[in-house]
Amino acid sequence: MAHLNIAIDGPAGSGKSTIAKHIANTMGILYLDTGAMYRAMALKMIRKGISIQDAEAVKKELPTTEVFAENKNGTQVTYLDGEDVSSLIRTNEVSKGASDIAVIPEVRIKLVALQRKIAEMSDVVMDGRDIGSYVIPNTVNKFYVTATPQERARRRLLELHQKGMNLDKTLEEMRDEIVARDKVDSSREFAPLVRTEDAIYVDTTDMSIEDAVNYVMERIQK
Ligand code: DC
Repeated sequence: MAHLNIAIDGPAGSGKSTIAKHIANTMGILYLDTGAMYRAMALKMIRKGISIQDAEAVKKELPTTEVFAENKNGTQVTYLDGEDVSSLIRTNEVSKGASDIAVIPEVRIKLVALQRKIAEMSDVVMDGRDIGSYVIPNTVNKFYVTATPQERARRRLLELHQKGMNLDKTLEEMRDEIVARDKVDSSREFAPLVRTEDAIYVDTTDMSIEDAVNYVMERIQK
Protein backbone atom coordinates (compact mmCIF):
# COMPACT_ATOMS: atom_id res chain seq x y z
CA MET A 1 0.00 0.00 0.00
CA ALA A 2 1.27 3.45 -0.87
CA HIS A 3 2.13 5.60 2.09
CA LEU A 4 0.89 9.08 2.86
CA ASN A 5 3.70 11.45 1.92
CA ILE A 6 3.42 15.15 2.63
CA ALA A 7 5.95 17.61 1.18
CA ILE A 8 6.43 21.00 2.82
CA ASP A 9 8.99 23.26 1.19
CA GLY A 10 9.97 26.84 1.73
CA PRO A 11 12.74 29.19 2.78
CA ALA A 12 14.29 29.55 6.25
CA GLY A 13 11.99 30.97 8.91
CA SER A 14 8.84 30.48 6.83
CA GLY A 15 7.23 28.37 9.55
CA LYS A 16 7.41 25.17 7.52
CA SER A 17 9.02 23.05 10.25
CA THR A 18 6.56 24.23 12.88
CA ILE A 19 3.67 23.38 10.58
CA ALA A 20 5.22 20.03 9.56
CA LYS A 21 5.80 19.00 13.19
CA HIS A 22 2.25 19.89 14.23
CA ILE A 23 0.79 17.94 11.34
CA ALA A 24 2.93 14.90 12.04
CA ASN A 25 1.93 14.98 15.72
CA THR A 26 -1.76 15.46 14.99
CA MET A 27 -1.83 12.68 12.40
CA GLY A 28 0.48 10.41 14.39
CA ILE A 29 2.93 10.01 11.53
CA LEU A 30 6.66 10.54 11.10
CA TYR A 31 8.25 13.98 10.71
CA LEU A 32 11.50 14.31 8.80
CA ASP A 33 13.50 17.54 8.93
CA THR A 34 15.69 17.13 5.86
CA GLY A 35 17.57 20.38 6.53
CA ALA A 36 19.08 18.72 9.61
CA MET A 37 20.74 16.16 7.32
CA TYR A 38 22.47 18.87 5.26
CA ARG A 39 23.43 20.56 8.52
CA ALA A 40 25.05 17.35 9.83
CA MET A 41 27.06 17.04 6.60
CA ALA A 42 28.23 20.64 6.98
CA LEU A 43 29.21 20.02 10.61
CA LYS A 44 31.41 17.13 9.54
CA MET A 45 33.40 19.36 7.15
CA ILE A 46 33.66 22.21 9.67
CA ARG A 47 34.99 19.80 12.28
CA LYS A 48 37.53 18.34 9.87
CA GLY A 49 38.63 21.78 8.72
CA ILE A 50 37.54 21.06 5.14
CA SER A 51 36.43 24.08 3.12
CA ILE A 52 32.85 23.56 1.97
CA GLN A 53 33.67 25.53 -1.17
CA ASP A 54 36.11 22.75 -2.08
CA ALA A 55 33.64 20.32 -3.65
CA GLU A 56 36.30 17.73 -4.48
CA ALA A 57 37.47 17.54 -0.86
CA VAL A 58 33.85 17.31 0.36
CA LYS A 59 33.09 14.51 -2.11
CA LYS A 60 36.06 12.49 -0.84
CA GLU A 61 34.50 12.46 2.63
CA LEU A 62 31.12 11.13 1.46
CA PRO A 63 31.83 7.38 1.44
CA THR A 64 32.96 7.53 5.06
CA THR A 65 30.25 9.90 6.29
CA GLU A 66 27.05 8.53 7.73
CA VAL A 67 24.07 10.79 8.33
CA PHE A 68 20.97 9.29 9.85
CA ALA A 69 17.79 10.61 11.43
CA GLU A 70 15.28 8.93 13.70
CA ASN A 71 12.25 9.93 15.66
CA LYS A 72 12.46 9.61 19.43
CA ASN A 73 9.34 10.49 21.43
CA GLY A 74 8.11 12.77 18.66
CA THR A 75 11.42 14.62 18.25
CA GLN A 76 13.95 14.11 15.50
CA VAL A 77 17.39 12.98 16.56
CA THR A 78 20.06 13.54 13.88
CA TYR A 79 23.23 11.46 13.89
CA LEU A 80 26.59 12.12 12.28
CA ASP A 81 28.78 9.03 12.16
CA GLY A 82 26.77 7.56 15.03
CA GLU A 83 26.95 10.66 17.26
CA ASP A 84 23.82 12.61 18.21
CA VAL A 85 24.51 16.09 16.80
CA SER A 86 20.94 17.43 17.04
CA SER A 87 21.81 20.41 19.21
CA LEU A 88 25.18 21.14 17.56
CA ILE A 89 23.73 21.80 14.10
CA ARG A 90 21.70 24.89 14.96
CA THR A 91 24.46 27.49 14.94
CA ASN A 92 24.68 30.23 12.31
CA GLU A 93 27.96 28.81 11.02
CA VAL A 94 26.30 25.46 10.36
CA SER A 95 23.25 27.15 8.73
CA LYS A 96 25.51 28.86 6.22
CA GLY A 97 27.60 25.69 5.73
CA ALA A 98 24.47 23.60 5.11
CA SER A 99 23.28 25.96 2.40
CA ASP A 100 26.70 25.86 0.73
CA ILE A 101 27.15 22.09 0.97
CA ALA A 102 23.65 21.53 -0.43
CA VAL A 103 24.86 22.94 -3.75
CA ILE A 104 27.06 19.85 -4.33
CA PRO A 105 25.00 17.28 -6.33
CA GLU A 106 26.77 14.24 -4.81
CA VAL A 107 25.83 15.40 -1.31
CA ARG A 108 22.20 15.76 -2.34
CA ILE A 109 22.11 12.38 -4.11
CA LYS A 110 23.36 10.64 -0.97
CA LEU A 111 20.84 12.32 1.34
CA VAL A 112 17.91 12.14 -1.09
CA ALA A 113 18.35 8.35 -1.36
CA LEU A 114 17.78 8.06 2.39
CA GLN A 115 14.83 10.47 2.29
CA ARG A 116 13.15 8.51 -0.50
CA LYS A 117 13.64 5.24 1.36
CA ILE A 118 11.91 6.72 4.41
CA ALA A 119 9.03 7.99 2.23
CA GLU A 120 8.64 4.54 0.68
CA MET A 121 8.54 2.80 4.04
CA SER A 122 6.34 5.13 6.09
CA ASP A 123 3.67 7.81 6.27
CA VAL A 124 5.76 10.94 6.62
CA VAL A 125 5.69 14.73 6.59
CA MET A 126 8.98 15.98 5.17
CA ASP A 127 10.16 19.55 5.18
CA GLY A 128 12.94 21.01 3.09
CA ARG A 129 13.60 22.87 -0.14
CA ASP A 130 13.20 20.24 -2.88
CA ILE A 131 10.81 17.73 -1.36
CA GLY A 132 7.86 18.38 -3.69
CA SER A 133 10.00 19.18 -6.71
CA TYR A 134 12.62 16.43 -6.50
CA VAL A 135 12.51 14.03 -3.54
CA ILE A 136 8.87 12.88 -3.79
CA PRO A 137 7.51 14.75 -6.86
CA ASN A 138 4.58 12.35 -7.31
CA THR A 139 2.89 13.11 -4.02
CA VAL A 140 -0.42 14.98 -4.23
CA ASN A 141 0.28 16.71 -0.93
CA LYS A 142 2.65 19.55 -1.70
CA PHE A 143 2.89 22.85 0.10
CA TYR A 144 5.09 25.87 -0.43
CA VAL A 145 5.29 27.89 2.77
CA THR A 146 6.77 31.36 2.90
CA ALA A 147 6.70 34.76 4.64
CA THR A 148 8.38 38.12 4.04
CA PRO A 149 12.17 38.23 4.68
CA GLN A 150 11.62 40.74 7.50
CA GLU A 151 9.17 38.45 9.31
CA ARG A 152 11.35 35.38 8.75
CA ALA A 153 14.36 37.22 10.17
CA ARG A 154 12.31 38.29 13.19
CA ARG A 155 11.29 34.67 13.88
CA ARG A 156 14.83 33.31 13.42
CA LEU A 157 16.30 35.92 15.74
CA LEU A 158 13.66 35.22 18.37
CA GLU A 159 14.38 31.48 18.14
CA LEU A 160 18.15 32.04 18.52
CA HIS A 161 17.65 34.52 21.39
CA GLN A 162 15.49 31.99 23.21
CA LYS A 163 18.50 29.66 23.09
CA GLY A 164 20.80 32.47 24.27
CA MET A 165 22.53 32.59 20.87
CA ASN A 166 23.41 35.55 18.62
CA LEU A 167 22.29 38.09 21.19
CA ASP A 168 24.22 40.91 19.49
CA LYS A 169 22.86 40.36 15.97
CA THR A 170 20.47 43.00 14.62
CA LEU A 171 17.29 42.29 12.71
CA GLU A 172 18.80 43.85 9.58
CA GLU A 173 21.89 41.60 9.78
CA MET A 174 19.67 38.56 10.22
CA ARG A 175 17.50 39.59 7.28
CA ASP A 176 20.57 40.04 5.07
CA GLU A 177 21.83 36.56 6.02
CA ILE A 178 18.45 35.01 5.31
CA VAL A 179 18.16 36.72 1.93
CA ALA A 180 21.70 35.57 1.03
CA ARG A 181 20.83 31.99 2.00
CA ASP A 182 17.59 32.12 -0.04
CA LYS A 183 19.65 33.18 -3.01
CA VAL A 184 22.08 30.25 -2.69
CA ASP A 185 19.19 27.79 -2.15
CA SER A 186 17.10 28.99 -5.08
CA SER A 187 19.84 29.65 -7.61
CA ARG A 188 21.79 26.36 -7.37
CA GLU A 189 21.66 24.23 -10.47
CA PHE A 190 20.71 20.88 -8.97
CA ALA A 191 17.31 20.61 -7.20
CA PRO A 192 16.96 24.25 -6.12
CA LEU A 193 14.28 25.72 -3.89
CA VAL A 194 11.32 26.29 -6.22
CA ARG A 195 7.61 26.75 -5.90
CA THR A 196 6.16 24.08 -8.17
CA GLU A 197 2.90 24.80 -9.97
CA ASP A 198 1.07 22.02 -8.15
CA ALA A 199 2.13 23.12 -4.64
CA ILE A 200 -0.39 24.90 -2.44
CA TYR A 201 1.02 28.32 -1.58
CA VAL A 202 0.86 29.37 2.08
CA ASP A 203 2.01 32.86 3.10
CA THR A 204 2.36 32.77 6.89
CA THR A 205 3.45 36.43 7.33
CA ASP A 206 0.22 37.41 9.07
CA MET A 207 -0.92 33.97 10.18
CA SER A 208 -0.78 32.44 13.64
CA ILE A 209 0.78 28.97 13.89
CA GLU A 210 -2.66 27.56 14.62
CA ASP A 211 -4.19 29.15 11.51
CA ALA A 212 -1.33 27.98 9.31
CA VAL A 213 -1.56 24.40 10.64
CA ASN A 214 -5.33 24.34 10.19
CA TYR A 215 -5.04 25.73 6.67
CA VAL A 216 -2.59 22.99 5.64
CA MET A 217 -4.46 20.21 7.51
CA GLU A 218 -7.69 21.05 5.68
CA ARG A 219 -5.94 20.69 2.34
CA ILE A 220 -4.26 17.32 2.92
CA GLN A 221 -5.70 14.61 0.70
CA LYS A 222 -5.68 11.36 2.60
O1 DC B 1 15.76 23.92 6.67
P1 DC B 1 17.14 24.35 7.19
O2 DC B 1 17.27 25.83 7.36
O3 DC B 1 17.56 23.58 8.40
O4 DC B 1 18.15 23.91 6.00
C1 DC B 1 19.52 24.22 6.02
C2 DC B 1 20.06 24.26 4.61
O5 DC B 1 20.04 22.96 4.02
C3 DC B 1 19.29 25.14 3.64
O6 DC B 1 19.78 26.47 3.61
C4 DC B 1 19.47 24.46 2.30
C5 DC B 1 19.72 23.01 2.65
N1 DC B 1 18.56 22.15 2.37
C6 DC B 1 18.41 21.72 1.06
O7 DC B 1 19.17 22.13 0.18
N2 DC B 1 17.43 20.83 0.77
C7 DC B 1 16.58 20.41 1.71
N3 DC B 1 15.63 19.52 1.38
C8 DC B 1 16.71 20.87 3.04
C9 DC B 1 17.71 21.77 3.33
